[in-house]
Amino acid sequence: MPRLDRHLSEYLGIKRSDVRLLLAQGRVQVDGKTATEINQVISRFSVVECDGNRTLANTPRYLMLHKPAGVVSATEDHTHRTVIDLLEQPWKDQLHIVGRLDFNTTGLVLLTNDGRWSRQLSMPGSNLIKRYRVQVEQPLSSAYIEAFQRGFYFEYEGINTLPAELKILSEFEAEVGLVEGRYHQIKRMFGQFDNKVLGIHRFAVGSLVLGADLAPGHSRLLKPAELAALSIKIGHNNSCTAGR
Ligand code: URA
Repeated sequence: MPRLDRHLSEYLGIKRSDVRLLLAQGRVQVDGKTATEINQVISRFSVVECDGNRTLANTPRYLMLHKPAGVVSATEDHTHRTVIDLLEQPWKDQLHIVGRLDFNTTGLVLLTNDGRWSRQLSMPGSNLIKRYRVQVEQPLSSAYIEAFQRGFYFEYEGINTLPAELKILSEFEAEVGLVEGRYHQIKRMFGQFDNKVLGIHRFAVGSLVLGADLAPGHSRLLKPAELAALSIKIGHNNSCTAGR
């Protein structure tokens, strides 16, 4: 976290001793309050003003996007369109992706410029359930439910997958709930049954559900209540249980 004196001396091109003077004269405000401590810690989203002029005012941004198929979950790509290319906001290049989806996977993608928030959401202990609708080539059976709940050994990483929820919706369609996001995780889980995945759509992340109001390719800012609900879930145990 940056310190107030360092930020002001760099931004204004003055010595730290001169920053002390500005503070003593009551000319610096942080988030609307007059700053008095030279070593005050600020965040990159603090609003800092000197003589009423903003020296720092980055707005945290939290967006949900309905990713269509054929778009890369990356900020740059030389061949294909990226999720960033789908956005129109002038500040879109400051954003990063929270939890990638494969090229042909559709559905809910979160984007932000707040690294702390994305780290919290992605932490193994966040237990945030990501929900997917999945179409497969071979018929499903109750053996899948138990296997997903038990977890699979992924040789490449040398790990066991955490308990995952699988609900069978029809012979060739299931709903899968994961609390982690390993590379091609769903494809590899069904792959252990030699069952090819034909389609994946992520329709929810925690309490956030992708509604019909957001057409493929479209995005919107998260509402304060949605943000608050997502953050409350972090740290709570909402791990997956099997069901049919
Ligand atoms: N699992 C996959 O295999 N692909 C995705 O895009 C998401 C989860």
